[in-house]
Amino acid sequence: MEWIASAAFGMEGMTGRDLKHMGMKNVRVMDVGGASFEGNFEDAFRANLWLRTCDRIMLVMARFEARSYEELFQGVKAVDWQKLLPADAAFPIRARCVKSQLMSPSDVQKIAKRAMVEKLKTTYGADWFSETGAVFQVDISIRNDMVTVAVDASGEPLSKRGYRTWNGEAPLRETLAAALVLQSGWHPWQPLHDPCCGTGTVLIEAAFIALNRAPGLTRKFAMEAWPCVPHAALDAIRAEARKKFEEGSRRPLAVSGSDINPEAIELATRHVKQAGLAGRIALSVKDMRALNPGDDLPLEPTGVFVANPPYGERLDNQRAAHAVAKQLGELQRRFRGWKLCAFSADTLFEQAYGRRATRRRRYYNGRIECEYRIFE
Ligand SMILES: C[S@@+](CC[C@H](N)C(=O)[O-])C[C@H]1O[C@@H](n2cnc3c(N)ncnc32)[C@H](O)[C@@H]1O
Repeated sequence: MEWIASAAFGMEGMTGRDLKHMGMKNVRVMDVGGASFEGNFEDAFRANLWLRTCDRIMLVMARFEARSYEELFQGVKAVDWQKLLPADAAFPIRARCVKSQLMSPSDVQKIAKRAMVEKLKTTYGADWFSETGAVFQVDISIRNDMVTVAVDASGEPLSKRGYRTWNGEAPLRETLAAALVLQSGWHPWQPLHDPCCGTGTVLIEAAFIALNRAPGLTRKFAMEAWPCVPHAALDAIRAEARKKFEEGSRRPLAVSGSDINPEAIELATRHVKQAGLAGRIALSVKDMRALNPGDDLPLEPTGVFVANPPYGERLDNQRAAHAVAKQLGELQRRFRGWKLCAFSADTLFEQAYGRRATRRRRYYNGRIECEYRIFE
């Protein structure tokens, strides 16, 4: 079976690399949208459970060209839906159209639904479908007239790990926070500190990486409700991941965070607890201007700051954002030998920071274009 591990702009390569590390077959990083791979249901379940930067896992049912609704109808109808969908399956459809003849997602949805019903009527000999059973969310993507028909095996996006239930000021998506940690070059034996940690997303993702904790360990995936999957095998894969975390939990961890806002630290504390990491991440209310080597963080070994400071995307708070960028520059100068990685949409960040970045990478946080700057 062919699967797509969808990933946001800038994270496709990381997702592809992780799939290769997991031993998946025929991994291909796509120009847009993520990476594809081949495997069985167990492989897709492992990808759901372990991929840190991926948004969802989808089973590819067909790829074909369509410039008319008739071609779309025939292409969707040709799929052997009964191999995956039981007679009581619920099959909602979502559609996306980019640079194609067929540019109306709602029409694409309607035509595809009609084609599926038509096919299932002949295979199940039924006149209507109750759609009361397991959910098979169908995803139709049309790009340059090429149609990809897939079924979502994740359900809720994989960024929803289950530990974050309260939102503070502009929290980072969990997948993006994991990407920032992975890109920082941090080694889990080093200290990592987020000096403006907000609700603690970066810290929790860093701890998950260091302790070998599968990001999806405690959540459910859509494919688990599908009758056709080998349920016992999936349970065994989850049990193995649980064991890996139990073993990983014994490792030392030097991940900590601080924030000027006491409410943010309160939320971070709750999230850390919900992530099963109570007592493993030190959190404190602190202005980053008061962070000093030796007092707050060790002098040796040197570590990595990963920060997601306020963006200043609106004119009225740009000045405040520049001030925080300046404070981050001063922080790095106080902590000699520490690396600082900052994720921000502020185009004048380096000017305020007082140095040019050693490396830069572009990502989107929602619709906001951001840069991840690494200051060695
Ligand atoms: C964009 S938010 C961080 C969101 C965080 N990454 C998350 O996922 O929840 C920026 C944070 O910087 C904090 N902050 C602003 N100025 C600060 C300062 N001087 N020292 C410490 N924290 C500061 C704010 O309180 C806010 O929580």
